[in-house]
Amino acid sequence: MLLNIRDMVFMINPDDQHLYSKLFEHLKSLGIKVDYVLQDRPNGLAENLILVESYIQDSLVMYLLGDNILYGHSVWQILNEAKEEVEREEGSYIFGYSVKDPHRFGMVEFDRDGRVLSIEEKPKHPKSNFAVIGVYFFDREAVEIAKRVKPSPRGEPEITSVLEEYLREKKLKVKLLGRGYAWFDAGTHDSFLEAGEFVSTIENRTGLMIGCIEEIAYRNGWISKEQLLEIARSLIKTEYGKYLIQMLEEEYAF
Ligand code: G1P
Repeated sequence: MLLNIRDMVFMINPDDQHLYSKLFEHLKSLGIKVDYVLQDRPNGLAENLILVESYIQDSLVMYLLGDNILYGHSVWQILNEAKEEVEREEGSYIFGYSVKDPHRFGMVEFDRDGRVLSIEEKPKHPKSNFAVIGVYFFDREAVEIAKRVKPSPRGEPEITSVLEEYLREKKLKVKLLGRGYAWFDAGTHDSFLEAGEFVSTIENRTGLMIGCIEEIAYRNGWISKEQLLEIARSLIKTEYGKYLIQMLEEEYAF
């Protein structure tokens, strides 16, 4: 939303479909065009690109993994530059982040001049400490590449194999997110708790919310002050509703 992207497609499990209807309704009321594709069972991140083919047409795709949380001052500007670069020059743009547990992720290796040498999914013997975070920009070719990808030893067509193909074609760009950013793959109980603690700490210290979609929609001009007030009033007994009202009263943007 911070990148002004208003067309979204969610991949959801049919068993969870009912849980999403309220969210989708709400997102639509915030000015977002939202749709979903059902996926019976997770079958590799590359498959998702094929399943959303009809939505991509000629446009660029920003592919976000639902369990990833990225935080940092003006990080959206870095993402926006990557988006604009893929729009201009095609290819794929990804981000590396230093981690302590490299076996858990897709890992990217560089030479001394910062050129990408390899990308490996959950390597046994990691060649670097830089994980590929779950925020990817692709041009349309990603769908065709995904169709050719063979399942990995864990039986899934991996997103990393799509990236390897971009690397072979010399169309892969990687930006390292250095100190000062927080990235979580909150896909395990422990990492989910860690991410929650981080978000709670920052929000409690600053009094500013992280990823408040109503605030972003309002600041983007997708909804009016009156619409935001209506949402805030319906939540007035909660801290969330109070935050929205306070944000409107103070009206300064961070
Ligand atoms: C997936 C990707 C991996 C990436 C990670 C980021 O892993 O396959 O390359 O580093 O997301 O969150 P998974 O969460 O499916 O194990």
